[in-house]
Amino acid sequence: MKFQTGRKTKVGRNDYCPCGSGLKYKKCCLFKQKPDIENIKEFYQKQYKIRLKEKKDIEGIRKAGKLVLAALDLAEAAIGPGVKTEEINTLVHEFTVKNKAVPAPLHYRGYPKSVCVSVNEVICHGIPGDRILNEGDIVNVDVTTILDGYYADANKTFFVGTPGEDAKKIVEIAKKSMKVGISTVRPGNTVGDIGWAIQNYAEGKSGSVVREFVGHGVGFDFHESPQIPHYGNRGEGIMLVPGMVFTVEPMINLGSKDLRILKDKWTAVTKDGSLSAQFEQTVLVTEEGVESLTPYD
Ligand code: MF3
Ligand code: CO
Ligand code: CO
Repeated sequence: MKFQTGRKTKVGRNDYCPCGSGLKYKKCCLFKQKPDIENIKEFYQKQYKIRLKEKKDIEGIRKAGKLVLAALDLAEAAIGPGVKTEEINTLVHEFTVKNKAVPAPLHYRGYPKSVCVSVNEVICHGIPGDRILNEGDIVNVDVTTILDGYYADANKTFFVGTPGEDAKKIVEIAKKSMKVGISTVRPGNTVGDIGWAIQNYAEGKSGSVVREFVGHGVGFDFHESPQIPHYGNRGEGIMLVPGMVFTVEPMINLGSKDLRILKDKWTAVTKDGSLSAQFEQTVLVTEEGVESLTPYD
């Protein structure tokens, strides 16, 4: 069967294969159409500007991903009350360079530092500087590393000392939101399925989903097609196919979803001053479903 867009004509993974073998589609023709792989690659490039990744690309991104995770571990170990956000920048920068890699944020569209460090009401793109971490704060560290030309992008939100109830709540919702999003990733599902799953979960827990920042294709460049909103409708948007690599990185607020950008033109904060948390991984659509290239629990 030829590759098709649109869902109405779609054969489900668990439906009988249209070739008449009597097997389930996923056990039969779903991924066996090798000649079509090239067609899909060309189609996704032309139609959506999505660059599907090949085996060697995936290995490169996975390797960059290992460095990203190691940098996050390093940051986590350093975080505590009294620590300046600038110190986290120094750590991540030096670790990255020492490993013959490049911190992607530095000078990206004028961004002045090597990592984003976002405390409490800061949603994302916090610029490391003189802000000092206090007991009970939450702090997101977002690391993107370029290794041998390949990009991997991941972030986590950490507790500073012992968290209060609100901090625990928003961090838990944000982490589970990412997980729910990633678990929706598989061939045949759509970009809208991911956003719907996240929004449905987060709002169900009375968190709000930031609209202005989205996940994104990644690997050959920092921000590639497609965009991956963390809200949306089931079945809408581009269909996921093996070889797609993108981030899932929901930002979840405790209060309203609205934000404002500070005068530095980067720092995004909640309009109502409420806490915001985020987790991000770079994931690959596989024939079986999904593999994280920056895996953590
Ligand atoms: N790492 C962020 C993301 O997840 C982007 C940061 S852009 C920067 O997409 F310039 F602020 F680094
Ligand atoms: Co990202
Ligand atoms: Co990121």
